[in-house]
Amino acid sequence: MPEYYLGLMSGTSIDGIDAALVDLSNDVPVLLTAHTHPWPAQLHDRILETVTDPQSVSLQDAGALDAELGEQFADAALDLIANAGLKTRQITAIGSHGQTLFHAPEGHPAFSMQAGDANRIAERTGITTVADFRRRDIAAGGQGAPLVPAFHQAVFHDPSTPRAILNIGGMANLTLLPVDNKAITGFDTGPGNVLLDAWYRKHHRDNYDQSGAWARSGDLDESLLERLMEHPYFSQPPPKSTGREQFCLRWLEELLQEEHHTLPDVDVQRTLTEMTARSITGSLEQFGQPVTQVLVCGGGVHNDFLMQRLAALLPEQQVETTEKHGLHPNWVEAVAFAWLAKQTLEGKAGNVPHVTGANRAVILGAIYPGRIQQT
Ligand SMILES: Nc1ncnc2c1ncn2[C@@H]1O[C@H](COP(=O)(O)OP(=O)(O)OP(=O)(O)O)[C@@H](O)[C@H]1O
Ligand SMILES: [Mg+2]
Repeated sequence: MPEYYLGLMSGTSIDGIDAALVDLSNDVPVLLTAHTHPWPAQLHDRILETVTDPQSVSLQDAGALDAELGEQFADAALDLIANAGLKTRQITAIGSHGQTLFHAPEGHPAFSMQAGDANRIAERTGITTVADFRRRDIAAGGQGAPLVPAFHQAVFHDPSTPRAILNIGGMANLTLLPVDNKAITGFDTGPGNVLLDAWYRKHHRDNYDQSGAWARSGDLDESLLERLMEHPYFSQPPPKSTGREQFCLRWLEELLQEEHHTLPDVDVQRTLTEMTARSITGSLEQFGQPVTQVLVCGGGVHNDFLMQRLAALLPEQQVETTEKHGLHPNWVEAVAFAWLAKQTLEGKAGNVPHVTGANRAVILGAIYPGRIQQT
């Protein structure tokens, strides 16, 4: 019997809601169908404004945004179920990550805030919905992130090959899976696409640098690269996680203002790509165990130039996408939250304490019951 779960994820890139419908009845998840539900332009702009300038947003604005995002997550789920030709009652549960509005894992107190009212998802779909995954880990002393390593371990561990799973979304995160399946590590390496997108958008009409072509045509500026790599996050040992709070256009622009204001825009894009690549490979070297394969997922796999730089910086490793290993790179995160919802409903832990820094393994999330089915 299949067991259908639906995962909903909207990451720091704010490009849209990734929705994935998956059969989790076996150890290997089987992806049925997936799509990206784009944010309506006005909602995209409000999310962006909220995350880049949180001071400008009132409590009323934040409450309204939470409700409206909840409706969008529900739409994304319902569209996907209809596309798959299934009925809502055939879906066991939805796992919804929500949209991060603020991530402050080092704050006093630490917190992480995701919007997208799960009451609305459960009410509109009638499907039991698990959401608010990060805060239980934070309550147990963790960073609340990254939460995907347990899923990576369940799906991508190989007893004969030490692997790293690299997700390049708005931020980039690594999971290291040693062959003995013990002591897995994982952390955010720093920005993935977020600064590449922000800089590109400032100079072009499009949302991102298609295949990294613009970056490829620029020249690397070693002195800017050195200044970028001085960001203290890069040398901080794990457990660690990050977001737009630390890596935003303002940080880049201030740095450019100081000493690089004459640099051509295209060279900045080239250099930002190098920063993403080197912060990933550098932290793999500095904080990881040796691996022979790096499996890449997230939107960054479509940036050919970034992938080429990663492969060049990792000559000893096989760098390939997760597609070769059974899961299309666009949907790994959404499938992970479907899987985490199953963990929660089965009373199983979803965090890896060694990864997040939590003092124990905890069951993540809050459960919003679906409608009782009439038999
Ligand atoms: N064809 C492409 N060429 C270059 N970059 C691309 C392409 N397609 C996607 N991207 C990049 O991938 C990004 C979206 O990636 P993704 O959806 O994985 O990030 P995310 O939503 O921030 O996810 P998360 O934070 O959960 O990992 C885009 O903003 C863009 O930078
Ligand atoms: Mg996305």
